[in-house]
Amino acid sequence: MLRSCYNTDLSIKDVGKEVALVGWVSKKRDLGSLTFIDLRDRSGIIQLTVGEGVEIPDIRNEYVIQAKGKVAKKDVPNKNLKTGEIEVLVKEIKVLSKAKTTPMIIADETDALEDLRLKYRYLDLRRPCLQENLKKRAKIVHCAHEYFDENGFVEVETPCLTLSTPEGARDYIVPSRVTHGAFYALPQSPQLFKQLLMIGGMERYYQIARCFRDEDLRQDRQPEFTQIDLEMSFLDQDEVLTIMEGFLKKTFKETIGVDIKTPLRRMDYAEAVDVYGSDKPDTRFGLHLIDVTEILQKSEFNGYREAKSIKAIVIPGQAPETSRKVIDQLTLEAKKFGFGGIGVYKVTENGVESSLLKFMNEEQVKDLVIKTEAKVNDLILVLAGEHDKVCFALGALRSQYAHKLGYIRPNTYDLLWVVNFPLFEYSETEGRYKALHHPFTRPTPETEHYLDSDPSKVLSAAYDIVINGYEAGGGSLRIYDQDMQKKVFNILGFSDEDIARKFGYFVKAFEYGTPPHGGIAFGLERLSMIICGTENIRDVIAFPKNLKASCPMSNAPCPVDPDQLEDLGIKIVE
Ligand code: AMO
Repeated sequence: MLRSCYNTDLSIKDVGKEVALVGWVSKKRDLGSLTFIDLRDRSGIIQLTVGEGVEIPDIRNEYVIQAKGKVAKKDVPNKNLKTGEIEVLVKEIKVLSKAKTTPMIIADETDALEDLRLKYRYLDLRRPCLQENLKKRAKIVHCAHEYFDENGFVEVETPCLTLSTPEGARDYIVPSRVTHGAFYALPQSPQLFKQLLMIGGMERYYQIARCFRDEDLRQDRQPEFTQIDLEMSFLDQDEVLTIMEGFLKKTFKETIGVDIKTPLRRMDYAEAVDVYGSDKPDTRFGLHLIDVTEILQKSEFNGYREAKSIKAIVIPGQAPETSRKVIDQLTLEAKKFGFGGIGVYKVTENGVESSLLKFMNEEQVKDLVIKTEAKVNDLILVLAGEHDKVCFALGALRSQYAHKLGYIRPNTYDLLWVVNFPLFEYSETEGRYKALHHPFTRPTPETEHYLDSDPSKVLSAAYDIVINGYEAGGGSLRIYDQDMQKKVFNILGFSDEDIARKFGYFVKAFEYGTPPHGGIAFGLERLSMIICGTENIRDVIAFPKNLKASCPMSNAPCPVDPDQLEDLGIKIVE
């Protein structure tokens, strides 16, 4: 037997016990007659003490060793270690495997750059914080299996070699060797298959599903990721949301001991955008967007007079901190969002200061301060333009300031549903409506009649679960009526030919008795990030891709042998 227990299974209660431990050498200190070794295993670190008379082989950091000895009470406890009250007095010590000097320090605190960490990910994974994250992620998956099994869901696997799914990102495609010129697409989600499972009579499906999307990467996006994916028949929206809330409640409790109060708040998309400037509002802090259109439209400033919407946010106490340089940065930020500039108003003891005062009369300035409830030393930021654009840009600034000024208390969790999304969004560049979720999302009964008169007014029976400003999941009730589906496809500009080519097999299935159904997919990585308290999605993935969608460890993607290309009938064009 190589080991009798894990390091942190041992405590003061075990003093006197004979043990065999294995692990990696985290640190070694040689004090002449005594040698101290910090031994690390999956559970944590314990101190080995090797005295005179015990033969010590050549031991260096990250060697894998086995030590046998007796647990003893430490004279001076080490408060930084879980096992800090004890040590193991070693009788025998053996090297199981040697290690080269590692290119990075194996500890929670590291200054190694991320690409180096990803290149040597197996070493990075030895860091306790990453191990903790992976354990929590596994616990979330465990909760999903337990909860959905208990609630009558059947786990079904759906294909990875399939056709394009309509989630809106670019597909990863896989060439067929058997049929040259034909390609599979890796699934962006199991959307179509899970709906077909409902037509197939499964009634309640779930899957921990791998998804692939070729899109621009961000801190919370990876090209391959995992969804906790679900679909249900014969339930209304309230029933679906209640089941999902049960899963979230169990998961937060069992992973980090946090009690989530249900039912969760439901916020209309329109309010989320109007008040928080985001479709995934972080409601842990205020800094609400305030409408000042009526006040500022009356000013002499053309940028305001012609704007459809003018909104403000107030940043408390930031007027004195807002130097010329800060204003230049804010202007740059506004330009990134397509604005000519940003209105900056500082409220001081001597009144309001702004380069735009020359366009405003005293009353307008006074009304602005009253409406925004700004106090002395507060900063008022104003953007003017098209409503949604103004809201989203101010929403981004709101979030930046909240992070910078430390408005967000750690270990607080705010969960809500965003509901009543528009069914369509109009794409100016493409000159057509696009589906905000996907083309199978059902309109709400109250707004369904606008399909014929004004599609921009149709709301959808879609719902996103938003946690701490992240979209942790999203879903909808689906269309199950063929005429309605046809209408939606028409509004989206799909010709009969497009429909037949893209989703012919899918639409056909609806002709054979379709139950009312709906579902949702949680982003497993997003949930794990929130539960692990990290803002970097790569911290909750064992072998993630970097921002260029490549793997610095394996060097994927890389060229393949000419033979392989020939088999596939593919020629690379330089
Ligand atoms: P959606 O596209 O909203 O819906 O995806 C569901 C959830 O998956 C997560 N997610 C991602 N996580 C990491 N990296 C990515 N690139 C990425 N893209 C999405 C998010 C998101 O909320 N089929 C529908 C679900 C349904 O309607 O049932 C779907 O995929 O947390």
